[in-house]
Amino acid sequence: MKTNKKTLLLIASMFFFSLVIGQDNKIIIKTKEAKDTISRYIYGHFAEHLGRCIYDGIWVGEDTDIPNTRGIRNDVIDALKELDIPVLRWPGGCYADLYQWKDGIGPKDERPPIINKFWGDVREDNSFGTHEFLDLCEILETEPYLAINVGSGSIEDAYDWIEYVNSDKASPMADLRRKNGREDPWNVKFWGIGNENWGCGGNMTAAYYTDLYKRYATYCWAEYKVASGGLNHDYNWTETLLKGTKDVTHLIQGISYHHYTVCHTWDKKGSATDFDESEWFSTIRKNMEMEENLKGHIELFKQYDPDNKIALIADEWGNWHDPEPGTNPGFLYQQNTLRDAITASIYLNIFNNHADRVKMANIAQTVNVLQAMLLTQGNQIVKTPSFYIFKMYKVHHDALLLPTEVVCEDYINKENSIPALSVSASKNEGLIHITVANVNPNKEIATILALEGIEEYKVISSEIITANEMNAYNDFGKEEAVYLKKFDDLKQKNQNITVTLPPKSIVLVTLQTK
Ligand code: AHR
Repeated sequence: MKTNKKTLLLIASMFFFSLVIGQDNKIIIKTKEAKDTISRYIYGHFAEHLGRCIYDGIWVGEDTDIPNTRGIRNDVIDALKELDIPVLRWPGGCYADLYQWKDGIGPKDERPPIINKFWGDVREDNSFGTHEFLDLCEILETEPYLAINVGSGSIEDAYDWIEYVNSDKASPMADLRRKNGREDPWNVKFWGIGNENWGCGGNMTAAYYTDLYKRYATYCWAEYKVASGGLNHDYNWTETLLKGTKDVTHLIQGISYHHYTVCHTWDKKGSATDFDESEWFSTIRKNMEMEENLKGHIELFKQYDPDNKIALIADEWGNWHDPEPGTNPGFLYQQNTLRDAITASIYLNIFNNHADRVKMANIAQTVNVLQAMLLTQGNQIVKTPSFYIFKMYKVHHDALLLPTEVVCEDYINKENSIPALSVSASKNEGLIHITVANVNPNKEIATILALEGIEEYKVISSEIITANEMNAYNDFGKEEAVYLKKFDDLKQKNQNITVTLPPKSIVLVTLQTK
C-alpha cells in the first residue's frame, strides 16, 4: 500500500489525538482512491426448495386464509420489498440438480409431484414453478437468477428452459409459454450452470465439470452464465475452470463461490441461540477468516483473467447452525440472533471491500432456512437481525467503494484474538456511508473516523443494530429485540469524528460532503 505525505500527517495527528482521548482505534476513509462500484447484486438472496423456504415461507397458494397475491404471502412480499432485493437465486442449491422444470408449468392440478430427496424426502406438488417464481420477482422488482439442472438434467432441457423463459419467437417452447398464460418473455439475464457439481450436483471432478460446463454453455443462449464453483478452499476447482475456459471466455461470465460458517464442526455445528462467548468468538473468527480464503480465489482470477471479465459470485454464504430442536433436521430451520447480524455485516463488508472482483453474492436463504431474512409460522412473520443488516446496508447498493485503512484493537478470547472492528465505506450522490461493526461483546470502542481528501462534511444521520444479549433474537408474538434504531453517540471535531460503538453493535454513519 502506498502511503503519501498527507496520509502520514493524518496518521500522526490521529495518533496524537488518540493519546489525548486515550484510545487507538481509527478508520481512515480514502475518498481520493475510490475506483470500484459496489454492485447492488452483492445484496442478492437465495431461495431454494428446501424445508419451508418456498412452500409455507413464500408460497401458500390462493386457497388459504393467509393474505396473498396470486399465492405469494403478502407479509413476505412487504418485508422483502423493504430490502430492495436486487437479485434472487432459485430453485437451488442441491435441489437445482434434481429439478425438472417442465413438471412445474401448466395447470397446477396436472403437474406431477416431486419427492425432494435432498431435503427431508418430502413430496412437493410443483405448484410453485417457473411462472410463480418469475411472478414473485416481478412483484419484488428483483432480477431472477435461475440455476440449471446439470447433475440429473440434459442440455436439451436447459436449452428448452431458456427458450421457454426468454424467447420472443414463434418457437415450440415460447408457444408453450404463451399457452400457459404468459405472452411476453421474461428476459432472464442470470443463469447458473449447475450447483456444487463436485458434490450434490453430480460428484464430478473439476476437469470433468469444466468440459461439461463448456458443452452446456455452448447451447445455453443466455446473456450471463455462471459456472458452478468449488467449496471454500478448493483452489484447484477454480484454477481448472479458469484455465479450461481461457479460450472460450465468451461462454463464461461468472464463477460461483460458496462459503458457509459453522461454529464447531459440520457434524456438530452448534446451536443458533444457545451459545457462550467462546462460540460467539469462534463463529466471528471463522467469518473473518473467509477474507483470506476469498483472496486466494481472487489471486487466481487475477492470474487467469487479468482483464477482469469473469465475475466472482458468492451465490451461497452465511452461518449454518444446528436445526432448531423439534424441527425436521432436513429443513435447516434455524433462529437468527445478534451474532448472525454481526456475521452478515462482516461478510458484506468483505464483499464490499473486494467489489473489484466480487460482483454478486446471495445469502442463504430468504425465508425459514439457514441465515434467513424472515421466519414464518402460520400467519405470523418475524424479521430477523440479519434482515435489519440488509436494510441498513442498502446505502451501499451501486455506490462507489471508498477504500479504508483500519487500525484497531484486538478482541481477545482466551489465547486467540481477532480485530475488534469490521468496516466498509462508500459514496453515493454526495453522501458518504460508513458501516462498522464492533464484534467485542464486552467492550464499547471509541473510534475515530477520518476522511482523507475531504475538507468539509457534516454528519447527517446514524443508525445502530445492537441488543443487551449476544443471543438476542426476534420471536413470534414478542416485541422485537433486535432492530434498526437511531444512534447519536458521535462527536465531530474538525476532520475527525469520534464514534463510540457499544459492545456487539453495528453502526451506520452517514455524512454529507459540502
Ligand atoms: O443452502 C443449503 C445447501 O448448501 C445448498 O442446497 C447447497 O448448494 C449447499 O451445500
